Amino acid sequence: MEHGRSGAARTAGTVVELDAAFFADPYALYARLRAEDPVARGRTPVGLPVWLVTRYDDARAALNDPRLAKDAAGFARVLERHPLPAERRTVFAQELSRHMLSSDPPDHTRLRKLVSRAFTMRAIAGMRPRIEAIATELADRMAAGPPEVDLLDAFAFPLPMSVICDLLGVPDAERGTFRRWSNTLLSSDGDAAARTAAGAAMAQYLTALVAEKRARPADDMLSAIVAASADADQLSADETVAMAFLLLVAGHETTVNLIGNGVLALLRRPDRLAELRADPELVPRAVEEFLRFDGPVNLATFRHTTEDVEIGGVPIPAGEVVLVALASADHDPDHYPSAEDLDLHRDASGHLAFGFGLHHCLGAPLARLEGEVAFRTLLARFPDLALAVEPDQLSWRASILMRGLTRLPVRLRDT
Ligand code: HEM
Repeated sequence: MEHGRSGAARTAGTVVELDAAFFADPYALYARLRAEDPVARGRTPVGLPVWLVTRYDDARAALNDPRLAKDAAGFARVLERHPLPAERRTVFAQELSRHMLSSDPPDHTRLRKLVSRAFTMRAIAGMRPRIEAIATELADRMAAGPPEVDLLDAFAFPLPMSVICDLLGVPDAERGTFRRWSNTLLSSDGDAAARTAAGAAMAQYLTALVAEKRARPADDMLSAIVAASADADQLSADETVAMAFLLLVAGHETTVNLIGNGVLALLRRPDRLAELRADPELVPRAVEEFLRFDGPVNLATFRHTTEDVEIGGVPIPAGEVVLVALASADHDPDHYPSAEDLDLHRDASGHLAFGFGLHHCLGAPLARLEGEVAFRTLLARFPDLALAVEPDQLSWRASILMRGLTRLPVRLRDT
């Protein structure tokens, strides 16, 4: 389709600030960019210059383009070209960065292969009873407690956190601390010192956990990964810790927002909520629509150009950072008619909420299953579920990585 993409059509020179107004409502900005400046220059909250890709076709092509690389070393070289003031620079713990999402082939292929068997649809289907048990226990606890709760705290966070910690073999006691570190690390509010400290604490904790699994292997995924690392050809010590880090953080920070953003979308549209209550078999399809409509990932799709490229007719030189705006692509009216409408019956397949191409989310089958169980449980157990505040009182996390609320106050029952 012709979008009138000549360079002259761009609002040349405009730099999009990814600031508090953007976090509050990214969709308004995305709509303007798709129409006027679909491959735009932007600046992250810490001041890093980036390119923003906002149309569906361009986004999908960019995610599938091997000239847009992810390796951590290449990214570090790009950052040297755009030096940030020291107080804005996060010094990432080296051990946390050598994971598959910061790698290109052949490292990416080797790292992903090591764990991909554990994440197939079939392997994940076997986890349904355990996920249902966790969801039921959380719902029981909510039903026995006060009528108003923060749904993120009481349900949306602990569900995926318990699942991924169970799978990997992380002891219960440390889960709260881990959540705080993870939250700090993923915020984009400019407190670089706090992020550096949280990353260091996490690296130290995970290094100790890996040592523990080496000393006393158990029947869990982290022990299996550690066993593979005994063979240096397969996995180095840093890669082992980085793998644990990626799986733990990717495994809970995203799914909490699938549940939170999806519940909010339903509570703001009582007609849709009624439709879903009337037909629970619609839940898997609805989960796909929640992912498309208000997906958990904001701009966590950092890539850098290894050579001069052209995206949507716009030339981008080598050594630049490109962010693919998944949520914008999924609201592109050229791809999804009435894209701004939550339509639980639409076929939302092909959405980019899980990314696309080589790095397509490894945990997608797990996230879908968790989402399905979460919505079935909430709908069945809380027939009067409602927002406990006005929608304009809700606040969104200041993160260019994740799209999620800070709290979701709900009323569980009328009395
Ligand atoms: C990669 C989204 C849940 C593990 C990704 C990417 C996206 C994404 C967009 C690709 C990023 C890019 O290309 O730059 C989501 C969403 C989730 C979710 C929306 C929940 C609704 C999970 C879960 C796990 C997981 C539960 C389980 C451990 C991973 C891993 C990668 C990844 C390991 C890297 C894959 C690679 O580099 O080959 N995810 N994710 N994710 N996700 Fe997820």
